[in-house]
Amino acid sequence: MGLHRLFAVNLKKMSVPLSIPPIRWPLEAIWQAVEPNLAGFTCEVLPTVDSTNSELMRRFKTGQLEPTLLVAEQQTAGRGRLGRQWHGQRVDSLMFSLGMPLAPGDWSGLSLAIGVSLAETLDATNTPNQRIALKWPNDLWLVDDKTERKLGGILVETATFEGHRHVVVGVGINVRAFDIAGLADLGHSVTVNGTPAGIAPGYLQDLQSGADVASTLLRVVLPLVQCLQAFEQSGFAPFQARFAKRDVLAGRSIQLSDGSHGQAGGVTLAGALLMHTPAGMKETTSSEVSVRPCSD
Ligand code: BTN
Repeated sequence: MGLHRLFAVNLKKMSVPLSIPPIRWPLEAIWQAVEPNLAGFTCEVLPTVDSTNSELMRRFKTGQLEPTLLVAEQQTAGRGRLGRQWHGQRVDSLMFSLGMPLAPGDWSGLSLAIGVSLAETLDATNTPNQRIALKWPNDLWLVDDKTERKLGGILVETATFEGHRHVVVGVGINVRAFDIAGLADLGHSVTVNGTPAGIAPGYLQDLQSGADVASTLLRVVLPLVQCLQAFEQSGFAPFQARFAKRDVLAGRSIQLSDGSHGQAGGVTLAGALLMHTPAGMKETTSSEVSVRPCSD
């Protein structure tokens, strides 16, 4: 049933300019891998939507509760954390949201756990001197000896409908270098993806030259579902050490957007950011705070 719906949507709404080859989304393979783990799972691709997160939240609020993977080839109002915009280009950027019922005892650390899942899945090739790191609370960074660049971001939103708890996990990954002119054509400014000052975007193709949006989607969805299910059972604690291995801030001087600064000291069992300050250890859980490393 999930697949029928998916193909119907594709045929009805696809209107891609003839010069641009269609993306061969591996929806059937994804559905076959995920559905046995997630009953009622459906997946869809939309050629354009304002935001895959917004669309799944709207659907959920009208009672569409089934687990859904929604992929967009283009977003007109992609959203990032803290009200930032998220820009993505067709073919160059992977943009999707996964909505599903979820009822963990404690939601703390969910975006960190998702980051661990994505980084471990995408970093499997062990490229020397280059790796995917995590920046608290929701960024994937591509790091090498000289540079650190933002590879992707995660936007987690939750809602309750008639007693059902639901999560929408939005993921944006820069797969290959953007056509900046294309963004301008869409009316976007050319600041890419709200990266902190001085942090240029990084691309998955820098790590794996053959990466494309379709194969990347196929790699990440099942591990992501399994991550959410593991988190529902056991919370963030089992992810803490895995996050620590990729924590790009640990031990560095950092500054929070609330003006405080200190030395990053890892994350707690609940995913809170620890910072050594002259006044003692400060714990930050606020989703309203952003953090950036100071130049070391
Ligand atoms: C961030 O870096 O602040 C999070 C970025 C999340 C972007 C993705 S793209 C797919 C999904 N739909 C959205 O509107 N946002 C997320």
